[in-house]
Amino acid sequence: MADNYLEKRYEETLGCNKPKVKRIGHTVDQLLLHSRSCRGYNKNYIVSRAELERIVGVCSRIPSGCNQQVLRYFLVTKDTGADQVLPLIRMGAALPELHLPFPGTEPEAFIICCTAAAESKLVDVDLGIALQSMALKAVEMGLNTLMIGAFNREKLKATLHLPMEPLMLMAVGKGTERIELVPVGSDAPRAYYRHDGTHYVPKVRASELLLN
Ligand SMILES: Cc1cc2nc3c(=O)[nH]c(=O)nc-3n(C[C@H](O)[C@H](O)[C@H](O)COP(=O)(O)O)c2cc1C
Repeated sequence: MADNYLEKRYEETLGCNKPKVKRIGHTVDQLLLHSRSCRGYNKNYIVSRAELERIVGVCSRIPSGCNQQVLRYFLVTKDTGADQVLPLIRMGAALPELHLPFPGTEPEAFIICCTAAAESKLVDVDLGIALQSMALKAVEMGLNTLMIGAFNREKLKATLHLPMEPLMLMAVGKGTERIELVPVGSDAPRAYYRHDGTHYVPKVRASELLLN
């Protein structure tokens, strides 16, 4: 569809310019900026099952390859097994000396993304869309998240009696970390690092992402 297709149709049909949309709430850019991977949480804030359900709710409105929608979500809160999940996940592989999360800042709510079908490229793409959509929803709700691929799949499945194959986890909570993005060139190191208590995340500049 041409960039200005809708504007032109509006003019043709109604004979006037499309009214300007008044933006309500966060822009996508603002949500993305705040949607940083968080590895330290405020334990005084207890994430409820209802909050996790609201986050997962976005997954009934997202794209899906062949519209197959084979992903399913298992919710874990403080009262329903978070302490059993914690020993099975790994955080902050680029900062092994820190042994993240710091004691007292562990996440206590998780969304476990499972698949009802065999893993495939389509399922993986669906998974990425689901995770990112949920991360943005969480930020909109004032919460923070961490996508977790480093976990003991077999033990998690057995411990929580998961009826399906777990593919990824998402930790959810009220983040306590100070995190900043650092624009870098495409040849610069990408590993995140910490300095004076701030977590820095290098991101390749937009201009260097373009191939032409
Ligand atoms: C597919 C995927 C798997 C990830 N797995 C882990 C993980 O197991 N443990 C972890 O601490 N962070 C994990 N992360 C978070 C990344 O380290 C993080 O996205 C990256 O450092 C960039 O930081 P940002 O999300 O704030 O932009 C994962 C992210 C993605 C997208």
